Amino acid sequence: LPPVIAIDGPSASGKGTVAARVAERLGFHYLDSGSLYRLLALHAKQRGIDWSDEPGLAAAAAALPVDFSCGGMRLDGIEAGNIIRSEEIGIGASRVGALPAVREALLARQRAFRCLPGLVTDGRDMGSVVFPDATLKVYLTASAECRAERRHKQLIEKGESANLPQILHDIVERDARDAARPVAPLRQEPDALLLDTTALAIDQAVDQVLGWFAA
Ligand code: C5P
Repeated sequence: LPPVIAIDGPSASGKGTVAARVAERLGFHYLDSGSLYRLLALHAKQRGIDWSDEPGLAAAAAALPVDFSCGGMRLDGIEAGNIIRSEEIGIGASRVGALPAVREALLARQRAFRCLPGLVTDGRDMGSVVFPDATLKVYLTASAECRAERRHKQLIEKGESANLPQILHDIVERDARDAARPVAPLRQEPDALLLDTTALAIDQAVDQVLGWFAA
């Protein structure tokens, strides 16, 4: 089987940026699993499927009309990369991701990304559920204050309005919800290596993951 580097961790930890750069450096494929949950939440909203309708969402997840070719992310043929990044869709992703039948329906779709020469993937349960036999498992985190400051800076750079105390509050709340849910709760697996990026630059985190993978 092709090698897999599974990077899990809380929201705004920087795992997506680190995972994408590691994939680029190795020439591996990259899967941002959170985007699947976000695309499903958006698709459900567009089709009038309630974010609590477990059978309806599971059916929609199995047939999700998504296309990842050419670097973009198309839903029903429409570029969705920016639309799914909103706070509302993030909350929807976390709601639909709490439903066991939805997670089950997305399993095969995620595993299909494991292709030669290898895969780097990030999410909440990549090392625990989706790729339990991953070559390398990393739990990437940073203090909640640090993650809130990074997200705040990102929003300001994009010219959007941002309130630091509110962002910190939302981050703590989302983490608590992701950690408390009965299915695929957010936690560090016993065999995952801890990477705390509170005091690290992105490139240092990338080099650490590459170093572990090469070892
Ligand atoms: O990582 P991202 O913020 O895009 O994820 C959005 C939401 O999707 C998370 O809060 C989490 O509830 C859910 N998710 C998940 N399992 C994953 C990735 C994301 O449940 N592997």
